[in-house]
Amino acid sequence: MNAHSAPGGEADLRRDDAPFRPAKTTNPMAEAASPILEARGLTRRFAGLVAVHDVSFSLTSREILGFIGPNGAGKTTLINLLSGTLEPSEGEIWFEGRRIDRMAAFRRARLGIGRTFQIMQPFPGLSVLDNVAVGALFGHGKGQARLERARESARECLHFVGLGKHIDHRAEDLGGPDRKRLELAKALAMQPRVLLCDEVMAGLNLVEIDEVIDIIRKVRDTGISIIVIEHVIKAIRTLSDRIMVLHHGEKIADGAPDSVLTDSRVVEAYLGKKRA
Ligand SMILES: Nc1ncnc2c1ncn2[C@@H]1O[C@H](COP(=O)(O)OP(=O)(O)O)[C@@H](O)[C@H]1O
Ligand SMILES: [Mg+2]
Repeated sequence: MNAHSAPGGEADLRRDDAPFRPAKTTNPMAEAASPILEARGLTRRFAGLVAVHDVSFSLTSREILGFIGPNGAGKTTLINLLSGTLEPSEGEIWFEGRRIDRMAAFRRARLGIGRTFQIMQPFPGLSVLDNVAVGALFGHGKGQARLERARESARECLHFVGLGKHIDHRAEDLGGPDRKRLELAKALAMQPRVLLCDEVMAGLNLVEIDEVIDIIRKVRDTGISIIVIEHVIKAIRTLSDRIMVLHHGEKIADGAPDSVLTDSRVVEAYLGKKRA
């Protein structure tokens, strides 16, 4: 079943009961060329503050797009607008040819927009497996075998992110790095087509960062397009096909990592105005 090409209506948005597995592409060349997600003139105001101002960009199929910018630049707000946690004040969001900027977050999740949260929120008292199964349940149909199928998908996602040995532990007993992996597994269990990652590498050491980079690459190799917010420039340069820079809510650069990271406006945004 291709849930994404089905006509509108809630039932059509449900995923089938298959566990997490690589997305199938009928025509990779055609898919590679067209944007899967597109923002047009997105603006979000909070009272007097413009957190995101007239931002347009597109994400191509199987692309890894890095979002960078100083603290308060509007990166998380932009992810919130894309996932539906926040409504834009102005502008449009298109996902696979469909306008979604007024659609509720849970509907966007069912359509295939998955996300992780900057502040991790494991469900307390539940095992690692069931934390992820909750996400899998959301994407799966009805019937008595539903929980068992969700747990099966959750198990696959947990092995995928390297948490296989912690499946039966309580989620709140996981350390920081493993909680980041849990966030990724929870998002993957919902079978996204686009994954939005908000600082999944924050607080990790260099070895752990490399491990997360490998996981994100593996996710992309299954056919998922990815937006990554990250502060560690070395990681974002290694991982991203393209980097977009936000500064005071505005897009100031968008392009190949090496050219963006040497762009004088970007250097200035990070280091402040150079003295003469
Ligand atoms: N819910 C909110 N209410 C009011 N202001 C907000 C809210 N969310 C974010 N902001 C403000 O919007 C700006 C951008 O924040 P954010 O998107 O979190 O930045 P980043 O993720 O790039 O650090 C900041 O000035 C922040 O204080
Ligand atoms: Mg943020």
